[in-house]
Amino acid sequence: MTASGLEGVVATTSSISSIIDDTLTYVGYNIDDLTVHASFEEVIYLLWHLELPTKEQLQELKQQLADHMELPPEIIESMKKYPLDKVHPMTVLRTAVSSLGAFDDEADVMNEEANYRKAIRLQAKMPAIVAAFARIRKGLEPVAPRKDLGFAANFMYMIKGEEPADIEVEAMNKALILHADHELNASTFTARVCVATLSDIYSGITAAIGALKGPLHGGANEQVMKMLTEIGSVDKVESYVKDKLEKKEKIMGFGHRVYRKGDPRAKHLKEMSKKLTELTGEPEWYNISVKVEETFTSEKPLPPNVDFYSASVYHSLGFDHDIFTPIFAVSRTSGWLAHIFEQYANNRLIRPRAEYTGPSMRSYIPMDERK
Ligand code: ACO
Repeated sequence: MTASGLEGVVATTSSISSIIDDTLTYVGYNIDDLTVHASFEEVIYLLWHLELPTKEQLQELKQQLADHMELPPEIIESMKKYPLDKVHPMTVLRTAVSSLGAFDDEADVMNEEANYRKAIRLQAKMPAIVAAFARIRKGLEPVAPRKDLGFAANFMYMIKGEEPADIEVEAMNKALILHADHELNASTFTARVCVATLSDIYSGITAAIGALKGPLHGGANEQVMKMLTEIGSVDKVESYVKDKLEKKEKIMGFGHRVYRKGDPRAKHLKEMSKKLTELTGEPEWYNISVKVEETFTSEKPLPPNVDFYSASVYHSLGFDHDIFTPIFAVSRTSGWLAHIFEQYANNRLIRPRAEYTGPSMRSYIPMDERK
């Protein structure tokens, strides 16, 4: 018996995050609490150590991340050689992460301590890659990270070249927390399948970025902003949504394989979207989004997922629309790494079977006799 898209199949046990009755927890802590009270670095620590850090442990992790953000100059130089007007930042991120493996002396050292050190180095460099490319393609030089800034603030600082306002840092921090982990989603499963062959961390994260890129997964947030831009005003929403549905096209940012009643992350992003769009003097992005939600859900009972309101949040924070998914990847790297640690700790090759539906046994036909 096959399950289409592996729906409902429990493929592993995990102590990292759980989705039970439409509630998402990281190691037992409700994301509603973490989003309000924690920093992203605290969540990284929680996912990697399965406990919240003490003050000293948190300080140490923050320091380690800040110390390792700088990119090898070769990676920056290679980014400058891409077709800058065409290449998608997710392609650049995937390639840069793969290349980073070549600059890490411990890339193929497979023990717990070395893997942890690599995880720190990779998590720290993810925002630097996204930020460097966002600037390079505009003809700007990358901005070096600052050791006195936290992860969210540093990320924004490296993209914009100026220190972000407190409210922007708060929003970024929340968005990073909300995207950090999500049980056995497609990209996390990809990472686990990859490292279950005892391949290295850089391979696992490169594979995961490839899976996240697609519009049915992380790529949806960029598509949401494209849709909001195409719609342009609240009065055009109804006809746009109904037309899409008549053509049997999907509306990006809605539906989910696991959640049926609603994605618990969406409400936080919706709230942030309202606040930030008002602050930037562009409330139309929130208003259009709300109208899309009302119109779509009155036709189909599929609530918005994490990608829907994150689009207007990231737009309000001033990010280019095609770096929305790379920002997601920066955050989700923390979860991917946690799952990679868990996979290594109790590994068995992941190798399912396929039910064969092709032709039955046939005799080989020599070339001259084929029609
Ligand atoms: N718009 C319109 N119809 C939809 C949508 C949507 N966004 N999502 C699901 N449906 C419909 C399908 O057309 C299908 O209808 P049918 O049974 O009449 O053919 C039914 O709901 C089931 O949809 P599936 O695609 O089979 O559901 P699945 O569980 O496989 O997919 C997914 C989940 C991929 C998230 C889907 O809802 C979707 O494509 N959403 C839009 C893309 C998106 O927002 N992705 C981000 C998800 S969150 C994340 O990955 C971070």
